Amino acid sequence: MSDLILGIETSCDDTSVAIVDSKGNVLSSVTASQTTIHSQFGGVFPEFASRAHVVTILPTIKETFLKANLTPKDIRAIGVTRGPGLIGSLLVGLNTAAGLGMGWNKQVIGINHLRGHLRSADLEEQRVKYPAIILLVSGGHTFLAYMKDPVNIELLGSTRDDSVGEAYDKVGRMLGLSYPAGPALDKMAFKGTPSIPFPRPMINEGLEFSLSGLKSAVTRYLASVDSFVAEDVAASFVEAVMDILITKCKRAIAKRDCASLVVVGGVAASPQLRSEASKLCQNLGIELCLPPLRWSTDNGAMIALATWDYINMGILPSPAPQLQLPITDF
Ligand code: KG4
Ligand code: ZN
Repeated sequence: MSDLILGIETSCDDTSVAIVDSKGNVLSSVTASQTTIHSQFGGVFPEFASRAHVVTILPTIKETFLKANLTPKDIRAIGVTRGPGLIGSLLVGLNTAAGLGMGWNKQVIGINHLRGHLRSADLEEQRVKYPAIILLVSGGHTFLAYMKDPVNIELLGSTRDDSVGEAYDKVGRMLGLSYPAGPALDKMAFKGTPSIPFPRPMINEGLEFSLSGLKSAVTRYLASVDSFVAEDVAASFVEAVMDILITKCKRAIAKRDCASLVVVGGVAASPQLRSEASKLCQNLGIELCLPPLRWSTDNGAMIALATWDYINMGILPSPAPQLQLPITDF
């Protein structure tokens, strides 16, 4: 039987498709980005996102097969993001997968987007040493999890309000940067001095996060001064975020027996976070596992790899996918 999975990801603003084998090797991966559509609105415009997915989904799937020199006959199953995400965007991927699965006579498996991110660090190479503490920082989510092995995931603490990516995007927008502002805000921060004492909400307690107070503190600061140095605001904000994330990771590592720290999700592309996490792991003598940059942000390859977890767990295909998932339902 073939060991190739077609992974389809359309939970937000990227139409991303990949073919991945059971070891995590990526035979081909194609992404149609919608950044130019949404950058004019300062964030993702859900209706435009769904419409763009409708236009790009079939050409993206076709190109993925062509690039790998494969045909639908060569795959074992289709894995498709079933949530969490924008409902209209998810429906495009799910209905396309359901239709193709029926036409090609292939099993269709609905995958939790977050499990996809959690497994992204094992794409192309098995990097994660289990048991692992995982920090997931994306545009939609922020949480710490404990993974005893690739299949068993335990949520340790998540954000009570905003995600880290959302805070980056909103603060970036206040400083005049266009969506997605994360990468540009990082660059700006490198040029500034972290001279503004922004708060670090909930830093002294537990494994949960709260980012909205930090975001509001930046808003209040900008409204209260006659002029400001944008680079210093960026540097101070990034320093506060790093403090929060690294403190929480350290606390989680101290609580649980683990061989590695894994940082995944769009914000894992941040050079500041990569370097701070690396220092922490060196100090603690544990391994740091990071997905290559291209697998940090949303992609179909991570969905394909996570599909193997479902196959290994014996989970049957769900023709009526559950769209609104609680964060603990991996
Ligand atoms: O994982 P992702 O692609 O989508 C979601 O599942 O949400 O994450 C997107 C988020 C955006 O908020 C974006 O600003 C942020 O990841 N991001 C970054 C960087 N690259 C992307 N944040 C900080 N530094 C970066 N280099
Ligand atoms: Zn994501």
